[in-house]
Amino acid sequence: MSGPNSEYDPVQVTPLDEEHVAAMRDEALAAIAAATDLETLKQVRTEHAGDRSPLALANREIGALPPQARKDAGQRVGQARAAVNQALAARQAELEVEAEARMLVEETVDVTLPWDRTTKGARHPITMMHEKIADVFVAMGWEVAEGPIVEAEWLNFDALNLGPDHPARTMQDTFWTEPAEHHLVLRTQTSPVQARAMLTRTPPIYVVSPGRVFRTDEYDATHSPMFHQVEGLCIDRGITMAHLKGTLDHFAESMFGEGISTRFRPSYFPFTEPSAEVDLRCFVCRGLHPAVDDCRTCKGEGWIEWGGCGVVNPRVLTACGVDNERYTGFAFGMGIDRTLMFRHGVADLRDMFEGDVRFSTPFGADL
Ligand code: DAH
Repeated sequence: MSGPNSEYDPVQVTPLDEEHVAAMRDEALAAIAAATDLETLKQVRTEHAGDRSPLALANREIGALPPQARKDAGQRVGQARAAVNQALAARQAELEVEAEARMLVEETVDVTLPWDRTTKGARHPITMMHEKIADVFVAMGWEVAEGPIVEAEWLNFDALNLGPDHPARTMQDTFWTEPAEHHLVLRTQTSPVQARAMLTRTPPIYVVSPGRVFRTDEYDATHSPMFHQVEGLCIDRGITMAHLKGTLDHFAESMFGEGISTRFRPSYFPFTEPSAEVDLRCFVCRGLHPAVDDCRTCKGEGWIEWGGCGVVNPRVLTACGVDNERYTGFAFGMGIDRTLMFRHGVADLRDMFEGDVRFSTPFGADL
């Protein structure tokens, strides 16, 4: 018994008469003429001149014909294939010229266009303010110190004479971290950097520390749960309130211009004794009549509240390992965001924190 015929090829024999060969050729020529780009022409080449194209298949049939028919068919198919190849080559050349011309137009570079008009972004005005403040103090020989944002409760409060039951603790609405037994807070003030400075250095100590602080405040035009302060600490022999006043006057002049001084109002902070609120001479009206009456910056006061300060409480010196018989010192702290607000007439605190470059750009590269 014979098995299935595995030699049998069901491919239909391609007709090789003149009419059919001409049809295959004309179809190929039409497709070539219709190709409008090199990619399409490549497909047309595969379809009409490739190994599986009708004309290539026709060519394969020729061998099976009787000799005279083979000659005629060979000639016909050969001529048709030559015509197709020629048309392909000609169309290829045309399309290459076209593609090159198009590329020259599309990729034209106008060398006269300005090259330097890209927006570069901007440094944040608060960052620039930090640096400006640091520069003022570094120029006087002070050091810039940083502390962590997640701070030990002891350094944020206890070391600064704010014991667990001290009423002033509730003045600062604190973000506590979990677990509670780790006694860590988001620092409510930059003052713990004072304690860190005293614990890690030996006097004389002159440090300034700008940085971020956190309180559970609402987020509105004048409050934010995150804001910035700058802290200053000086510990040396024979330091008095007069040194504090001179330093703050110099700080104020450097930031706000010549003749802008400060004044002290009695106040209370647990870490300083005596303590004072420090006000800044209004740098717009300078407290002068009649300008002061309509001054929008100081609201007719002639002075602007700037921060707190005082002579470092001896209890703080002791807690931080400084001999309070030999050394005295002063400290101060102010809000950087507030400083920026009244220095530049920023009406809404939130504008500073929302990251819109349109706010930052007008400040330029230098404050
Ligand atoms: N830490 C205070 C606050 O956040 C500001 C302050 C007041 C800092 C007096 C000081 C100072 O160093 O002496 O309200």
